[in-house]
Amino acid sequence: MQTEFLGDIQSIAPQNGKLVIKTAEAEAHVYVYSPTIIRVNITKSASADDESFAVIQPPSVSIQYHELNDSIVVNTPALKLHINKSPLRFSLYTADDKLLSADDSRFGTTWQDEKVITYRKLFPDEKFIGLGEKTGNLDRRGSSYVNWNTDAAEHGIDTDPLYKTFPFFIGLHSGLMYGLFMDNTHKSYFDFGATTDNEMSWFGADGGDMNCYFFGAQTVAQILADYTWLTGRMEMPPLWSLGYQQCRWSYMSANEVLDIAQTFRKKQIPIDVMYCDIDYMDNYKIFTWNPKTFAKPKLMMDKLKAMDMHLVTIVDPGIKVEEGYKQYDEGVKNDYFATYPNGDKFIGEVWPGRCHFPDFFRQDVREWWGAAFTALTDAGVDGFWNDMNEPAAWGQNIPSLMQFGDKPMPQVRNAYGMEMARATFDGTKKILNGKRPFVLTRAAYCGTQRYSSVWTGDNSAYDAHMLLGQRLVNSLGLTGMALIGVDIGGFTGDPTPQLMVRWNSLGVYTPMFRNHARIDTAHREPWRWGAKNEAIIKKDIELRYRLLPYIYSGFYQASQTGMPLSRTLAIDYPFDDNIYHPKYQNQFLFGNSMLVCPVISTEKTADVYLPQGEWYRLSSGMKFTGKQVANVPAPLTDLPVFIKASAIIPMQTTIQSTAEKGDGTLQLHIWNGTEANEFIYYEDDGLTYNYQQGQYYKRQIRFYPAKKQIVLDIPEGTFKSKFTQFNLVLHGFDKVNSLTINADVKKYHTGTSKTTSFLFDNTEGNISITY
Ligand code: NOJ
Repeated sequence: MQTEFLGDIQSIAPQNGKLVIKTAEAEAHVYVYSPTIIRVNITKSASADDESFAVIQPPSVSIQYHELNDSIVVNTPALKLHINKSPLRFSLYTADDKLLSADDSRFGTTWQDEKVITYRKLFPDEKFIGLGEKTGNLDRRGSSYVNWNTDAAEHGIDTDPLYKTFPFFIGLHSGLMYGLFMDNTHKSYFDFGATTDNEMSWFGADGGDMNCYFFGAQTVAQILADYTWLTGRMEMPPLWSLGYQQCRWSYMSANEVLDIAQTFRKKQIPIDVMYCDIDYMDNYKIFTWNPKTFAKPKLMMDKLKAMDMHLVTIVDPGIKVEEGYKQYDEGVKNDYFATYPNGDKFIGEVWPGRCHFPDFFRQDVREWWGAAFTALTDAGVDGFWNDMNEPAAWGQNIPSLMQFGDKPMPQVRNAYGMEMARATFDGTKKILNGKRPFVLTRAAYCGTQRYSSVWTGDNSAYDAHMLLGQRLVNSLGLTGMALIGVDIGGFTGDPTPQLMVRWNSLGVYTPMFRNHARIDTAHREPWRWGAKNEAIIKKDIELRYRLLPYIYSGFYQASQTGMPLSRTLAIDYPFDDNIYHPKYQNQFLFGNSMLVCPVISTEKTADVYLPQGEWYRLSSGMKFTGKQVANVPAPLTDLPVFIKASAIIPMQTTIQSTAEKGDGTLQLHIWNGTEANEFIYYEDDGLTYNYQQGQYYKRQIRFYPAKKQIVLDIPEGTFKSKFTQFNLVLHGFDKVNSLTINADVKKYHTGTSKTTSFLFDNTEGNISITY
């Protein structure tokens, strides 16, 4: 094996807006994408196409740089990239010369045959967050990881790799931060000082370029905004996908699906979504229905729709090898499947037995796949669950020789699931007549947020897994993904009733709230846990529905800025060391203002770390001062949730499904505080793309405590809100007897010792309230 290092610069030349730097070993191409994004691509195959699955933005047209004796400096208004000439090394500084990130001066970028690794300086106080779906601590310092999308069935709380690849992390040190995205789909490696005696961090891949995007904005939120500008943001999800979702491997017949659905409605436990796992198919053949157990899918769908429910069906990539099966015949005829280098089709075993695997990297294959969904949409299905798309085959080790067209599997494996989700999303969007499809995928790569939601795969029914799941969700939120779920209750094994109740209460604050379990486990529906527990579960699901105006507005924010719904505290409090403590690292903000503390099912109290500021317990209204640990009651009926002072949280009355209009009153909750705050309330039809033509209702709500004023700006957009009234609920304010609304004095309406409420009409003009 030959080891090579990047040597001295031989030439520098601007070329089509980028800077091309040559050494004897390789070329480095430097691009500026925005004032806070610089890309350095170190390549040995400079003539190859510059392709990316993740990046959707072009670099800006020109690069500013100047040459010094022993270095070159690339400038943007926010950053300086120092390029050392001899040997070639890269260091990133802020515009005012603070070092953000640097190559290890000895090694920098290296090759061992095809394997490319970059060694970077490790700062003594440096912390790392990110990489998406990775086990371990919030602070990844001292850990190492591999990216190789894997069917990680029955994974433990330390297993690596899992299903997804997000080679993007944020480093934090010296009160500074930077983001780094290595856009490379080969098997890749990240070591945050785990094996190098804290001397260096290093990362790299089995092949391809050392293709890095550096992000130099100085808040985590802005780095996420930049990263999601570069790799895309999610579209507005269908509102129904944010309701409660009930899944199981499998509901075995249309009758069982309907029976479960009816039971929810009979018991008045809100729900929007039922699932069909693999057994709805005929012998696990994708795009078919079982002729016996799901003989009349349209009839089943009509009945579900009459109950205001949607159905999500699973689709795996494996196409059964069976002559006469449409997808098999068409795929063979058109050479749509992955092959060996000699052209023989690859065969791997999955549920249907021997299978071929579509080459989702090809546009025509994606279109073929997408069009086949009429088999499901004709019946009325509008949700599509992409499973087993790492891709998975029994035995795991798909031979390296397998290839997609001319792309060897090891080069692109990590993007396969994303390309399947892309085919599913683009295809179903075309055939759903203007309705938004819901797509859920297990495998993913950077940029998947443009097409799909994700869940964290096959977790297990024990407390530590519930906590791990929350960390995975929080960390996935650092990758542009916002619609994220875990199998509530645990997929493998049976939860105790206490764990089921606790996990469900956390599900309220999980962006995608889906209950799912493995075949041969106990049924997980809310009524399987005894009447007392059922009542708690029901109350929590009702709370989820009450929170939907806040949650949907949160997804609007995600679609505009890349800010996730579930936010590790490292987003808002990156330099508060306490939030990284293993005891508090699972805590998160749900939306702008709700702090949630996951608590295991056997604990009845919890130590919660409340960051700087003032906080109110949601359930009791009790006020806490932040930057300290509070020991609080945490019975199964009351997960510790805290509201940040000055919070603005729109809610609604309980509804049974998102199709229900409710009572027409938007509950506008405001918690007292000293700092001004604002919230963008967002509403649209929740179903179609009309919002892209301006049919939305967007209203800025502002709270100015110093002026004792609350302002609702004139709504934007042409959509008429379903709420004709507001009920302003004030929490933690000194006694408020009356409000002045646009000069009209409104008397005290109703209240408790802790809150006061005022009811007023939702008028279109500016509404200014003083108290
Ligand atoms: C594996 C998935 O992770 C799981 O959620 C699903 O139930 C099974 N495959 C069966 O389809």
